[in-house]
Amino acid sequence: MKFELPKLDYTNDALSPIMSQETLELHHGKHHQTYITNLNNFIKDTDMSQLPLEDIILKSSKEKSSVGIFNNASQHWNHNLFWKCMKPKGGGKIPPKLEKRIISDFGSIDKFKNDFKQAGITQFGSGWCWLSINNGKLVISKTANAANPLIEDMKPILGCDVWEHSYYIDYRNRRPEYLEKFVDNLINWEFVESQLD
Ligand code: FE2
Repeated sequence: MKFELPKLDYTNDALSPIMSQETLELHHGKHHQTYITNLNNFIKDTDMSQLPLEDIILKSSKEKSSVGIFNNASQHWNHNLFWKCMKPKGGGKIPPKLEKRIISDFGSIDKFKNDFKQAGITQFGSGWCWLSINNGKLVISKTANAANPLIEDMKPILGCDVWEHSYYIDYRNRRPEYLEKFVDNLINWEFVESQLD
């Protein structure tokens, strides 16, 4: 199976000024594309070439010699989710079903938002912060580099990329401001809610 760059549900300038056209062109068109090109090259003519992406991630995560495959496969999966988690004029009111689950598992929306942003701020170096379902409960976590919660048997439903390529053009070194804007102005809560089932 040859993997391809997914089309965005919005134009490259649609998230501006929260996330600029330049950032999206580079991040989606170059960085994400590179992960896919590398992945396709790595798995060409191997037993992984016919597997679905999730299976490649799980299989390669268990084999030290497959670290290159894992990094590129996982980053492809992570970015697929990331693009879906954003929309123009996002943020705002969380739909009722998801809101109820968040309040039940974190105590309040404010506590959840704060903990999610803190996970992103405190991720040392490149990585991701996540909202996932773990044994039926919502949990926040952070991972380094390409790793994602799938390999810990969780289902990520919201992911924020905190690699510098995600925010450096628009926010320079101000990762906390980027996370603040991501939560308040970019998250597609309807999509996140749709991942609960
Ligand atoms: Fe990225």
